[in-house]
Amino acid sequence: MGQLIQAEIQYITPAEARDYHIGSILNGGGSFPGKNKHASVDDWVALADAFYEASMDTSGDRLAIPIIWGTDSVHGVNNVFGATIFPHNIGLGATRNPELIRKIGAVTALETAVIGIPWTFAPTLAVVRDDRWGRAYEGYSEDPAIVMAYAAEMVSGLQGVPGTDGFLHDSKVLATAKHFLGDGGTVGGVDQGDNVADDSELFEIHGQPYVAAIAAGVRTIMVSYSSSRGRKMHGNPYLLTDILKGRMGFDGFLVGDYNGHGQLPGCSNASCAAAINAGIDMIMVPEAWKEFYANTLAQIEGGEIPMSRVDDALRRILRVKFEARLFEAGRPSSRRYAGRTALLGSAESRALARQAVRESLVLLKNNDAILPLARKQTVLVAGNSANDIARQSGGWTLTWQGTDNENADFPGAQSVFGAIEEIVSTAGGVATLSVDGEFAQKPDVAIVVWGEPPYAECFGDRKHLNYDANDPASLALLKKLKSAGIPVVSVLLSGRPLWVNPHLNQSDAFVAGWLPGSEGAGIADVLFESVTNEINYDFKGKLSFSWPRTVHQNALNVGSEPYDPLFAYGYGLTYGDVTQVSNDLPVDIGDAIFAHDTTPMGDSCAD
Ligand code: BGC
Ligand code: BGC
Repeated sequence: MGQLIQAEIQYITPAEARDYHIGSILNGGGSFPGKNKHASVDDWVALADAFYEASMDTSGDRLAIPIIWGTDSVHGVNNVFGATIFPHNIGLGATRNPELIRKIGAVTALETAVIGIPWTFAPTLAVVRDDRWGRAYEGYSEDPAIVMAYAAEMVSGLQGVPGTDGFLHDSKVLATAKHFLGDGGTVGGVDQGDNVADDSELFEIHGQPYVAAIAAGVRTIMVSYSSSRGRKMHGNPYLLTDILKGRMGFDGFLVGDYNGHGQLPGCSNASCAAAINAGIDMIMVPEAWKEFYANTLAQIEGGEIPMSRVDDALRRILRVKFEARLFEAGRPSSRRYAGRTALLGSAESRALARQAVRESLVLLKNNDAILPLARKQTVLVAGNSANDIARQSGGWTLTWQGTDNENADFPGAQSVFGAIEEIVSTAGGVATLSVDGEFAQKPDVAIVVWGEPPYAECFGDRKHLNYDANDPASLALLKKLKSAGIPVVSVLLSGRPLWVNPHLNQSDAFVAGWLPGSEGAGIADVLFESVTNEINYDFKGKLSFSWPRTVHQNALNVGSEPYDPLFAYGYGLTYGDVTQVSNDLPVDIGDAIFAHDTTPMGDSCAD
């Protein structure tokens, strides 16, 4: 019974895990050993040891079954102080570099192994169809083909390749394809909402990445909070059991999402036979696990949950634990890479993240070829994201929503300003930080780094994509610099495409930088020439999300009609292009409702 339960580390002690034979623990977003955001590698490994040892206690004739810890390493080992933070998936989608994705998976696995954890809840395989969704950035693309190609690479990078010696060995961790099925296609982009697609659309759009992930051997799949045609996925035996386990042949285990079972009709966080009967093997029941244990046991004894279902769940969980070599791996601290602090946020992993940042940047506009910039000049660096690593990193970074972090929380990281300052000053130029754009002496050029604040699930949902409604100051800033006759380079840091026509008009060059993470240097690498005034790195990024022309285009997807984007799927200039983008894009929003974003924060969060 206990094996079917995953509890959260703030709500269970190792002794309780032993007493109830609990199969798994997780740390949720913003949950750390000792509730310490700055917990060290040793703190993580020590807690992993404590739970492991408890699970292997054979006193009183107990059966020893190693407990398994899962964590959201979704863009690097993002819960851990000092880890390399990779660009969020939306940026990786723009790189169009599947090989790079595999390498990122390998580094993420290694750094997760360093803290003694053998399982990550990644990759997210959402095919994002409405950019108002607050989790848009967790998806690689609106196009199933990209998500499908990346799914295989990320799963292989994390787990290794089935049938080879390295599979789930030493530096590898279990991957989780999530969230099955249709999370990226809810009506209105509402988090945890309803996906009304019929079966063929569900399969062609949202199901494709799972085909690839299963072929690559993904060992776990997380069930989506969302519904399919009004039916919650957590209570959907047709899609979970008949389709996924049956027709698609998935033989790993299904884990529920955080209290996702509690949302089913007739269920609570503490009781839900329907979720187990639908095919979920391990229930993520962070807090109410004790009551859940008792209730489920009664439901099994009373026949409400058939024993065959319990056997299937247990068989799957144990099989994966064997495959992950947990029965032979020994204490977490005794594993090959555990505790090797030097591997966390190492120069090598930062170099890889920096490469990913470079390749993720999409050049939307470069009128009169104002980029690349010479290093030796006076550069004003402005904007609300210019010197803010938390804004660079977005949600799922140290904290759940990515909020309440400051630069000091990111040792070894570099802000965009920090990186520009380094490049410019060593070449004899001067870079000045002025968030609000005030300057004493007129600079040669202004780089304005601006964009969205961090957010994650449900808190990030928006009613529309008019950027200005949430941050009028950035447009005012661009206008002020532009009207002072200063060439303006905009770098937008955001978790999705946004309607920014007014901002494009005020910018000579415009870069979509997505959520690059800890290595701001990747941006400076591309914006500036080399020391010998040649192209240092060219732009490589191509849009994996279509860019809206009007404020109405929330669900603008390649392959769907009508399709009239401002910048089409696949767009992305390079330094060889001479394309001029109009400085006179229509800026009229027509309807006043787009002038404000009245979305109450957390509107779509369930209790
Ligand atoms: C999210 C998952 C995540 C889980 C554990 C849920 O709320 O939807 O993506 O893996 O929490 O943190
Ligand atoms: C946890 C997240 C989880 C969320 C679910 C938060 O408190 O930290 O990991 O995804 O709750 O609603």
